Amino acid sequence: MVAPLRVGLAGLGTVGSAVARMLVESRDQLAERAGRPIDLVAFAAKDPPRDPKVDVSKLKKFDSPSALATDGGIDVFVELLGGEGDPAKSSVEAALGAGRAVVTANKALIARHGNALAKLAEKSGASFAFEAAVAGGIPVVKTLREGLGGAKVGRVYGILNGTCNYILTKMLTEQRSFADCLKEAQRLGYAEADPTFDIGGFDTAHKIAILTSLAFGTEIDVEAVHVEGIETITLADLQAAGELGYKIKLLGVASRTDAGIEQRVHPTMVPKGSVIGGVDGVLNAVAIDSDAMGLVLVGPGAGGPATSASVVADLVDLACGRTSPALGRAAARLAKPTRAPIQRHEGGYYIRLAALDRPGTMAAIAKAMAAENISLESIVQRHETARPHGGDDPKSAAGPATVILITYATNEDAVRRALAVIEREGVVAEAPQLIRIEKS
Ligand code: HSE
Repeated sequence: MVAPLRVGLAGLGTVGSAVARMLVESRDQLAERAGRPIDLVAFAAKDPPRDPKVDVSKLKKFDSPSALATDGGIDVFVELLGGEGDPAKSSVEAALGAGRAVVTANKALIARHGNALAKLAEKSGASFAFEAAVAGGIPVVKTLREGLGGAKVGRVYGILNGTCNYILTKMLTEQRSFADCLKEAQRLGYAEADPTFDIGGFDTAHKIAILTSLAFGTEIDVEAVHVEGIETITLADLQAAGELGYKIKLLGVASRTDAGIEQRVHPTMVPKGSVIGGVDGVLNAVAIDSDAMGLVLVGPGAGGPATSASVVADLVDLACGRTSPALGRAAARLAKPTRAPIQRHEGGYYIRLAALDRPGTMAAIAKAMAAENISLESIVQRHETARPHGGDDPKSAAGPATVILITYATNEDAVRRALAVIEREGVVAEAPQLIRIEKS
């Protein structure tokens, strides 16, 4: 009889409880797949299990995650506490330092400290796995690290935050306010404890920084990610996007460009008919372009059952003795990424202007665009805006009209300069809305 893999679990929240349940309820199936039992033997948690069906009465209890992490009675420390600081960081360091395998779902920890932790794991010979840290149940870490091990990846991008996708979907389909949809996402348990991480794009930034490293063989460089959240997206933008054949999604995008590796998170226009454009609600999607093939993975990015499936998959690998370097190659072989600044980003843009409804406005806008060599694919003037002063006299003071421009491929610097001129000319009533268009 092969000895079981003994698991110590820190954190019994939504994901921790789901992992504990899966290890018990799928015990026989997991033993068959792994060739040995995977037994949960110990835990550390401040609070009782979030799921009352989880019975911890027969497990050894530790008051401190670090004490559990270094206890000789476990073979693998599973960190599901969350957060980039302590106790998550210190307990993972303690485990790896002691040569103990670690499995974690902690994207903030990996994004901020992944390079150092990968080195520490290598030094002590410990396995370090984090499939659940990116896109919950979608096996994208394994896909990049192993499935595409021989391919050259040019771009990886996707919807990596279920809360934002849920909010953008609900706002459009149910004509509801941003705040109302956010509240519902929180109630359903998708959002982070502090939802600013979701809607401000920081959660997505952590995840794309990890994918960038796996895709391009570079050190994780989360500071290089350009981050914009979804707070400025209005129902009018979502509707206009729809009329023009697009959906607006919060994307994390990493690509190789002539200027280096570009990493960015921002609301993005994607074609309605693309696979990513069809991924709505709380679902996540990750698209990978490589010389071998392009593929899109779609699935749940959050929630107990999905995320626990990824944690348990890492445990099965460990139990079978399948390990690989945490970031896909030896830490010393990871390249320092060259940062491609957002100012050099190239692509199409959606621009929404609150244009003053008077002669010369369109001419000024067109002139500013032409001066920067920006070619326009479409110009739409929407008529819903009221003319507060009414009347037919073109010289009378009128309210702003919504003008939407879609540009052909240009670059960020040029667009920013043109918009600065338009604002200086005094032909718009508020700061322009700018949304990048991503080719699928
Ligand atoms: N708050 C995250 C989301 C949870 O909404 O996707 C998973 O990381």
